[in-house]
Amino acid sequence: MSAPDPAHLVQDDRVHRDAYTDAAVFALEQERIFRRAWLYVGHESQVPNPGDYVSVSLGPDTVLLTRQADHSLALLHNRCPHRGACLVNSNSGHVARWRCPYHAWTFALDGHLLTVPMADGYDAAFNPTDPALQIARVPRVESYRGFIFASHAANGPGLTEFLGSLASALDNMVDRAPNGTLTQTGGVLRMEYRGNWKLFMENATDLVHPSVVHESSVAAARAHREALAADPSTSQTLQMLLSNGLAMPQWAGVPLHADPHGHVYMGGFYKDGVIAPVRSDPVFDRYRASLADRHGEERTAQILAVDRFNNLIWPNLSVNARFGVLRQIQPVAVDRTRVTSTCFRFDGAPDEMFDLTLQFLNTASSASSMVASDDLEIFERCQRGMADGSLPWLDIRRGRQTDQQQTDGSITAPGTSELAIRNQFSAWLSHMSGASEL
Ligand code: FES
Ligand SMILES: [Fe+2]
Repeated sequence: MSAPDPAHLVQDDRVHRDAYTDAAVFALEQERIFRRAWLYVGHESQVPNPGDYVSVSLGPDTVLLTRQADHSLALLHNRCPHRGACLVNSNSGHVARWRCPYHAWTFALDGHLLTVPMADGYDAAFNPTDPALQIARVPRVESYRGFIFASHAANGPGLTEFLGSLASALDNMVDRAPNGTLTQTGGVLRMEYRGNWKLFMENATDLVHPSVVHESSVAAARAHREALAADPSTSQTLQMLLSNGLAMPQWAGVPLHADPHGHVYMGGFYKDGVIAPVRSDPVFDRYRASLADRHGEERTAQILAVDRFNNLIWPNLSVNARFGVLRQIQPVAVDRTRVTSTCFRFDGAPDEMFDLTLQFLNTASSASSMVASDDLEIFERCQRGMADGSLPWLDIRRGRQTDQQQTDGSITAPGTSELAIRNQFSAWLSHMSGASEL
């Protein structure tokens, strides 16, 4: 079977269904995107001390994010160089050194071989410093203000060049912490759907869908508005559900900003009540005062005025800085995707501010979410529909006439444009055709 030619799958205004349904295309994506691009792997607060580790996904591989003796970070493949056993089986932990559970070879934190039982079973040609006998290391690992990214590719643009203007999303999240640091807190929420990974990234800034796909929860929120508003445990959820019911002209008024690397962000649309970007109540007033202690009044006002919803760092990270939430989109198979949500405390902020984050996650990203369940259902319907080959192409031209090229290379458009999808496929094609080393 010949390899698929990505150039035949993407045009300016349409994309071939094979991009979502062909297992050979998926395999090529793993090789040319997920084994090359910078991918988010974790946060520094997950591994505060030397020997701490967390097991994370880097493209198709499971790797161990660890803190070294000199406090630097390393990513090691979870694979013993002897006969291939996984070195650890837990999601996180602490080790003084690595010890393989099969034949007890041991390794230093940085992966170099320390001891081999039955050493007299090896002849003089056995060289413990042979690179083939060390735990393999991921060649590039970098932290941007505590957010750790890695790349399987030894060469290519640096992390800040890759992040481009979307570094501002991570900046804003850190800037919102009165102490200047974030702490990943609690466990994670995981969801899986039977659909291609790109469906999630496309939908995250598709602003025509909310008032259609989420119509039932908008209607329920409107019907029970007074009761939900009166109960502090549901008032935030009420505001979030109501916000999905904007009229189309209002959605068009939410700006989209597309970056050359496939990244995109959208403006905010949570304007009222407890989810308004700036409000006045005892908790928020205390929070703002602690931010002002760090940054001063003027800078604090600038930080809080950054009102964006989803910031998408291509290929597979969604950042919500205001609520301190990250979502990683992990391709599992051409028609299966895992979404992992993590949340962060703004260090130094009142504890009540973290309640907003938890409510946000529960309402938007948990298995019981009325919003996420709608989206996952539509992803699965898209995947099933695309299996029907009667029409091979999908249309992505909406809003092309309103795209505005900016002098810095970015493109802006009204929120109802499909600009973000076209922009993601531009980066996709660049990588898939081998034109980009990112
Ligand atoms: S497989 Fe690890 S020591 Fe044998
Ligand atoms: Fe949605």
